[in-house]
Amino acid sequence: MTVVDHPLVARDVTLLRDAGSGADAFRRALHRVSLALAMEALRGAPTEECRVKTPIRETTGRRLSGDVIVVPILRAGLGMVDAFLQLLPETRVGHLGMYRDEETHEPVDYYANIPGGVESALVLVVDPMLATGGSACGALSHLRRRGAQHLRFISLISAPEGIRKLREQHPDVPLITAAIDEKLNDEAFIVPGLGDAGDRYFDTL
Ligand code: PRP
Repeated sequence: MTVVDHPLVARDVTLLRDAGSGADAFRRALHRVSLALAMEALRGAPTEECRVKTPIRETTGRRLSGDVIVVPILRAGLGMVDAFLQLLPETRVGHLGMYRDEETHEPVDYYANIPGGVESALVLVVDPMLATGGSACGALSHLRRRGAQHLRFISLISAPEGIRKLREQHPDVPLITAAIDEKLNDEAFIVPGLGDAGDRYFDTL
């Protein structure tokens, strides 16, 4: 597990937590934190040697080798996608639609569109909230059934309960997050958290 520790990330996580931040501030801050998370998520990604001509002479450089696929969990994960595409402009995007049943807190699948090639690609699953971990584990299991082997899960804020579930069900999947919070409340909301990321990002409160 990696917790991205950077003063700009800490500032933006604070802005995201702030109930006074409106949709515009929330969207911008989520984009900036997602850039930092994406950099971390790509650490150790395979590269290969290539030649490059500088204005002075030819030298050796490196380029990414192998595919990367980004998979946001709908809806809130969509708010992280642009940052990943900014850093990885050639990347394909899959979508997994899931919502949490308000009473059972279990994830309910409603949409899946995953591009071919997941078997060999580095698959980055993104969702701002890791609460009970049900959505994350459901998404990772879905991608495994489709043959994905190289998975990473990227969240903005993680609860200990979700981290535990992820470790138990998908011990080989690295977690990259910007904050670990205290606990879940009775409604399975992260405490102190930031509320409902999807509602705040899409302004549907
Ligand atoms: C939220 C969040 C995660 C999920 C986390 O989505 O964006 O997908 O809950 O909870 P879990 O770890 O307990 O599964 P929500 O169901 O509110 O849907 P939305 O993104 O469409 O608002």
